[in-house]
Amino acid sequence: MSTPLDEQQITVSASSLRAMRDEFQRFLMEYRFGLQEIETKISILREEFHEMHDYNPIEHVSSRVKSPDSIVEKIQRRGIEPDFDSVRAHITDIAGIRITCSFVSDVYRLFDLLTAQDDITVREVEDYIATPKGNGYKSLHTILEVPVYLSTGRVDVPVEVQFRTIAMDFWASLEHKIYYKYERQVPAHLLGQLKDAADAAAELDARMARLHQQIRGGAASAPTRLV
Ligand code: GTP
Ligand code: MG
Repeated sequence: MSTPLDEQQITVSASSLRAMRDEFQRFLMEYRFGLQEIETKISILREEFHEMHDYNPIEHVSSRVKSPDSIVEKIQRRGIEPDFDSVRAHITDIAGIRITCSFVSDVYRLFDLLTAQDDITVREVEDYIATPKGNGYKSLHTILEVPVYLSTGRVDVPVEVQFRTIAMDFWASLEHKIYYKYERQVPAHLLGQLKDAADAAAELDARMARLHQQIRGGAASAPTRLV
């Protein structure tokens, strides 16, 4: 049987839980808006390229805001203080976008076009295309900061933007499945085969680029279409 005191305690904790939930939702909202800003920039570049050069450097774009569960998991794994300021400072992949391009040259071209924009700040670049990971993983990883204007003022939101080719993406998605199937302990014979497959993917990228250049005479020098 509940006493009035119990009821009061339940009411207090329910309202503080509600406040925490609201604060967490607001925290995630900033990242959602940051993602939208970058996505808009990417779709403008994509459309403009299509209009002006009759060429599409982007094959696919996917994005996500990290789930509350994975944020909590990362806080624990990295021993981060569980308050919003330290999470903001230390977890930079809450908003994430992956841009899949046809060719390696498009990866760097898009990176240059995006980061040349006045309101974008490059916080970090890890070029795993120039220097692949030991397992063969290739992608251009960046943390970009974009301003978001809220009713309370400006916040600069970090967004992890990964650029890769279709071949790199194909490899990474298979490797990811194998990695989790074997619970991060991939058997040696598979590691070797994965590395070979990564080399084959890189060779395919190089071949496709050569073919593409022969057909178009290099996309960069493609004539500008007049409507
Ligand atoms: P997590 O994001 O929690 O994994 O840690 P992290 O951000 O410190 O990892 P890292 O910067 O190395 O990688 C960021 C993301 O790049 C990962 O979440 C994956 O999407 C991708 N990635 C990095 N390394 C690999 C790899 O070896 N294989 C595959 N398939 N993806 C990778
Ligand atoms: Mg990450």
